[in-house]
Amino acid sequence: MTRMVDSGLWMLDKIFGTRNSELRTMIIAIDGPAGAGKSTISRLIAARHGWTYLDTGAMYRAVTLMAVEQGIAPADEDELGALARNVEIGFKPGPGGSPQVFAGCRDVTHEIRSQDVSALVSEVSAQGAVREALVEKQRAIAARGNVVMDGRDIGTVVCPGADVKIFLTASNPERSRRRRLELQQKGVEVSQAQMEREIAARDDYDSSRELAPLKAADDAIIIDTTNMTIEQVVDKISEIIEKQLK
Ligand code: CDP
Repeated sequence: MTRMVDSGLWMLDKIFGTRNSELRTMIIAIDGPAGAGKSTISRLIAARHGWTYLDTGAMYRAVTLMAVEQGIAPADEDELGALARNVEIGFKPGPGGSPQVFAGCRDVTHEIRSQDVSALVSEVSAQGAVREALVEKQRAIAARGNVVMDGRDIGTVVCPGADVKIFLTASNPERSRRRRLELQQKGVEVSQAQMEREIAARDDYDSSRELAPLKAADDAIIIDTTNMTIEQVVDKISEIIEKQLK
């Protein structure tokens, strides 16, 4: 019992960075703008080490989807906050390694990636009550340890004590190209110009919001992936992790 309490306290120290933890368990924070490759890279890093991957963007997307369906306005902080507190968001390993996302027992993996949700998610995510509720859920998962988390504010707000902080970025045209390819594979056609506008709008919204804006933590390692392959990025981050583990 005492051991469990102790290790719980150690994990809190680790999340908040209040003490230099010697626990052999890792929290990896991967932040960055849309289309920088965070989810692909985070998933591969987690798989390589047998760790948990937590896609925090999927949580904001799930709340946004539920809000749209329940007719809650993106500016209605109280209702959105209640929704974010009450919805149980779960993840299960899916086919091909990418996690399935659940809201309660409903599989929302595909619906949360719709253009409608993408268009509203930044506004919903800017609401303090939503962030408070989701950050609490994210820290509860981080507290289990050995987790790779991707998002916008993991290294700055959710887990400022993370062992490794990476800020992944790439040029807008390259990020738009990647996002278009992803959509094309799902049969959705969007022009390069429109994608660049959408990505720029979301970058602006996410970077300029008052709460937990998108930015690299002071101690984050910035990796520009514009001219890098997925393998190169995974190798680079793995090297950084290996050094930290020694
Ligand atoms: O995959 P993509 O880069 O399009 O974005 P995402 O990771 O699915 O996140 C969708 C949106 O959720 C972002 O544009 C942010 O507005 C918000 N978000 C956030 O505010 N904080 C996070 N930790 C993760 C996502």
